[in-house]
Amino acid sequence: MSEKIVEIKNLRYAYPDGKEALRGVNLDIFEGETLGIIGPNGAGKSTLLLHLNGILRGEGFVRIFGLDITGDTLSDIRSGVGLVFQEPDHQLFMPTVFDDVAFGPINMGLDRKQIEDSVKEALKEVDMLDVIHRPSHHLSIGEKKRVAIATILSMHPRLIALDEPSANLDPKHRRDLIYFLKKATLSKIIASHDLELILETCGRVLLLDKGEIIADGLTADMLRNQSLLESHGLEVPHSLLNGYYQCAG
Ligand SMILES: Nc1ncnc2c1ncn2[C@@H]1O[C@H](COP(=O)(O)OP(=O)(O)OP(=O)(O)O)[C@@H](O)[C@H]1O
Ligand SMILES: [Mg+2]
Repeated sequence: MSEKIVEIKNLRYAYPDGKEALRGVNLDIFEGETLGIIGPNGAGKSTLLLHLNGILRGEGFVRIFGLDITGDTLSDIRSGVGLVFQEPDHQLFMPTVFDDVAFGPINMGLDRKQIEDSVKEALKEVDMLDVIHRPSHHLSIGEKKRVAIATILSMHPRLIALDEPSANLDPKHRRDLIYFLKKATLSKIIASHDLELILETCGRVLLLDKGEIIADGLTADMLRNQSLLESHGLEVPHSLLNGYYQCAG
């Protein structure tokens, strides 16, 4: 049995204005898993991901790589958990793309050559090497998202948590991302409304709604369950609608 790398028990989180975003979440994730998180707008998907590296701290029990999140463990946990935010502008704050993607490796104390190699390798993975010297804030939204993914890949995390990774990507780069997610052996958590991407990349899926886990199971079973999905604002992906294909026009 592989190692439990995330252990969450009865996690509750309310934003400062009192909005309860997580209401008793229990979740175990094992090394090597690719877990999808699905659910309607406002379900708590992003809020849950923000707990994986201590950006948010709710009530309850969160243990990552067997470590409780404390002042002493936070930096180890942060270098092991790479979180790609839903909003790329929250990830990119340095003057150039190089600086943004080098930020993690520099903080990890890598030498100059290792930093340059990690940055180039990560940018190549998302097909953004040609923008290495451009200011991140001049990029299009989809380009920013790809650079945001590179800022995490350059750190070689043990667990990568991606919030809407395919949002705003063109079809070719979305396809490249799916290919990368399928071939990368690291542990992954992917929150997305792109259920076709979830279907292709995740072995297990969690359905979240109103801050609670509604279902946790095998992707193929969950994404075929029309009544379950539709009662939570989702729909069965087209590719699973046997014999029924509706084409606009
Ligand atoms: N900074 C905040 N202050 C107050 N409430 C917030 C804040 N951020 C999120 N919320 C609320 O918390 C709930 C969960 O939000 P969250 O962003 O986690 O949902 P989500 O499942 O990621 O949604 P989406 O699919 O739109 O990305 C929502 O009801 C949202 O309005
Ligand atoms: Mg979200």
